[in-house]
Amino acid sequence: MIKIAPSILSADFAYLARDIEKIADADYVHVDVMDGQFVPNMSMGPMVVSSIRKATNMFLDVHLMIVEPIRFVRQFCEAGADLVTVHVEADTEENIHAALDLIHSMGKKAGVVVKPKTPAEAVLPFIDKVELILVMTVEPGFGGQSFMADMMPKVAALRKLIDEKNPACELEVDGGIDPVTARVAVEAGANVLVAGSSVYKAADIPARIRELRG
Ligand code: DX5
Ligand code: ZN
Repeated sequence: MIKIAPSILSADFAYLARDIEKIADADYVHVDVMDGQFVPNMSMGPMVVSSIRKATNMFLDVHLMIVEPIRFVRQFCEAGADLVTVHVEADTEENIHAALDLIHSMGKKAGVVVKPKTPAEAVLPFIDKVELILVMTVEPGFGGQSFMADMMPKVAALRKLIDEKNPACELEVDGGIDPVTARVAVEAGANVLVAGSSVYKAADIPARIRELRG
């Protein structure tokens, strides 16, 4: 089954609860956390996640675009994240392992993310222990960018590795997903689709979520 994870980066932050209600038909709420250092933009921290947690029972998929994520994973888990993903580029292999172990020790799901220039093999040290792998289909930092179709061989390679090594693991794509690129990503092997602008700019959001699901 294809899951849809609207990114609230495209919501109105002054009306987050209202904008999360608008995506009640989706599967996950995708929460983009940016520190102004790992990516050239800032968004929200654990306090905002904690407020979101009080406003919805939906599954919170928290995408950490921050350096040395181990410093903050505990706070995000305590704030109510259901899944926390960390970038493999954001720290040493040892510290990424430690971050994933800490997330699991708090009873949450853990995942790893790869930026466009990072090869599929970079997830191999972690593939046995994660519940989700996220492939960026834009350079992280901003919503509303164009889908990088040249990431599809990487998605296909990761689908193959997941099927061999950890078939329960989910494969998520993030960036530039609309009803057309959604089909391309699913064809390549993705099963969770993050979509920000395409969901929040739609006149009929529930209809757009159905279209994305295909
Ligand atoms: C980009 C974020 C994405 C972004 C996607 O750094 O990780 O989640 O919000 O936005 P769209 O769907 O507009 O490309
Ligand atoms: Zn994201």
